Amino acid sequence: MKFLKFLPPLVILLSLLLLVSSSSCCNIPALFNFGDSNSDTGGFSAAFGPLPPPYGETYFGMPAGRGSDGRLIIDFIAESLGLPYLSSYLDSLSANFSHGANFAAVGSTIIDQNVTLSQGGYSPFFLDAQLKQFLQFKSRSQLVYNQGGVFKGLMPKEAYFPQALYTVDIGQNDLTAAILGNKSADKFIRNAMAEFSRVIKNIYEIGGRNFWIHNTGPLGCLPFFLVRVNLTPTNLDSAGCWIPYNKLAQQFNAKLYNTVIELRREFPLAAFTYVDVYSVKYLLISQAQKYGFEEPLTACCGYGGGKLNVDTRVRCGATGKNVDGTKYLLSNLCKNPLKRVSWDGVHYTEAAAKWVFDRISTGEYSDPPNSLNTVCHINYQD
Ligand SMILES: *[C@@H]1O[C@H](CO)[C@@H](O)[C@H](O)[C@H]1NC(C)=O
Ligand SMILES: *[C@@H]1O[C@H](CO)[C@@H](O)[C@H](O)[C@H]1NC(C)=O
Ligand SMILES: *[C@@H]1O[C@H](CO)[C@@H](O)[C@H](O)[C@H]1NC(C)=O
Repeated sequence: MKFLKFLPPLVILLSLLLLVSSSSCCNIPALFNFGDSNSDTGGFSAAFGPLPPPYGETYFGMPAGRGSDGRLIIDFIAESLGLPYLSSYLDSLSANFSHGANFAAVGSTIIDQNVTLSQGGYSPFFLDAQLKQFLQFKSRSQLVYNQGGVFKGLMPKEAYFPQALYTVDIGQNDLTAAILGNKSADKFIRNAMAEFSRVIKNIYEIGGRNFWIHNTGPLGCLPFFLVRVNLTPTNLDSAGCWIPYNKLAQQFNAKLYNTVIELRREFPLAAFTYVDVYSVKYLLISQAQKYGFEEPLTACCGYGGGKLNVDTRVRCGATGKNVDGTKYLLSNLCKNPLKRVSWDGVHYTEAAAKWVFDRISTGEYSDPPNSLNTVCHINYQD
């Protein structure tokens, strides 16, 4: 401390200011989200019809466009930043975009899969479509804002775009497409990363500066995928998850991490936080009991009972015909969704989403270890 008094006061003042600013909160006025069902707050429902009950029952008391019994991680992010829940860009009823918009949709992929939903394929709102929607949103929202009156209260201010947080959670359906299509992992991951990078660059070029990028979760722990594989003990880990699918997810995540590092080098003025959602979800599934959860590999809402409670003919909330075509089957619901991890075999319960959010929001699982309050900080170690 002694040498401090020899330093000119200005230097001390500056270094104090630096200290303060490096730990200070970011003022995030808006949230723009891109992704799949992990963060869809109504896009798919607006386009293709609502999800059936009991979706939404735990928190909203009715289906709320989310693939869950309640809130998603993105909802907890919005709450934590003091922002309202995100309206989906596709929602034409009671949408309010004053603090952001959500472009995510159920079944979305990074790469256009060329197989429509009616053919059992994927969402038409793949990442490039979401980008185009965002670009249109950015310019047209300002025309609407400038009309004044009620419109002004429904659109974001122009100044919000560079200050906003841009969140991305996508890739899970690309993995699914690769698995079901028996595609070479290396090639599809390479293509997906090039496309991911291109989309982020576009957002940067029109002013985006704060990025919060989720990696993809442990696909091999999802009941909906476990029911498809011929479960052999050698391919199951100690948590009961299917090792080859989890390896694929990890392979994807390793490349995603490299992609984020490259983006940081290319855009030193932007803050990129890479969030290891995989590890947090895996921790919850592999040590569910310890954290007060039960049966992490069993769908709460599903059909067929047994260890997984998944039947691909009868999805959550749906009715279906028996193999003989006569009898209608009705999905069942677990007694306590608050203690469950998997809601419908693919998506997590609100309780699980909250658990995951509580861990990722601190920065403990992120690189750099930015918490949600410090997402605008550029303090990379590399
Ligand atoms: C979809 O079609 C386009 C144009 O034919 C092609 O370039 C692309 O590779 C296809 N995507 C997939 C995932 O097959
Ligand atoms: C839109 O939401 C914001 C924030 O919740 C609120 O202040 C504003 O009044 C809403 N606009 C309208 C027109 O309801
Ligand atoms: C998947 O690809 C591998 C090697 O490319 C091949 O041996 C295998 O038969 C394929 N499986 C299916 C179901 O097409």
